[in-house]
Amino acid sequence: LIARAPSPIDSLDWEPLREAVASCTACRLCESRRHTVFGVGHMRAHWMVIGEAPGEQEDLRGEPFVGPAGQLLDSMLRALGLTRDEAPPEQQVFIANTLKCRPPRNRNPEPEELARCEPFLQRQIALVQPRIILAMGRFAVQSLLRSSEPIGRLRGRVHQYQGVPLVVTYHPAYLLRQPMDKARAWEDLCLAAEVME
Ligand code: URA
Repeated sequence: LIARAPSPIDSLDWEPLREAVASCTACRLCESRRHTVFGVGHMRAHWMVIGEAPGEQEDLRGEPFVGPAGQLLDSMLRALGLTRDEAPPEQQVFIANTLKCRPPRNRNPEPEELARCEPFLQRQIALVQPRIILAMGRFAVQSLLRSSEPIGRLRGRVHQYQGVPLVVTYHPAYLLRQPMDKARAWEDLCLAAEVME
């Protein structure tokens, strides 16, 4: 991985990290957001799921994956016995995004926005210390693996993010548009579950 310059965010504990996200003005997304979306889940969840960026519902509620893509994500997680709700850490997922603010009209994140937001996600991963990371969609993959290869070329095997096993899969919003790929995403989740056995 290409090292980025150290940031003061790298040493923040949960509460100061939450505050830093909530008050962030590092890019212009702060001008249009209604809420920042920090992430949810157990602070020491064994699973960490990383998506792209808040959409309209997430921006309104300040919670990740609460719209249609989130319902699909929750049902896939439930099928593996996992939940974002209260549960022992081994059944829990911490869900976060590469961007903490919604891009206007859900446009793709821009490189500058990803770079400014990246220290927050990296710090969240360092605090949670997950045993498995599920990177959903190309922006999560770009940010964590520094790869711009298509998901289809990266899925189906176990990568590493700073010593943590990482499995790549399709973004749930993509799966809503391309349900044919749901079976592949399910294979990816099962691969991640195998890593945890
Ligand atoms: N898509 C994402 O990537 N994240 C969300 O939180 C919602 C939709």
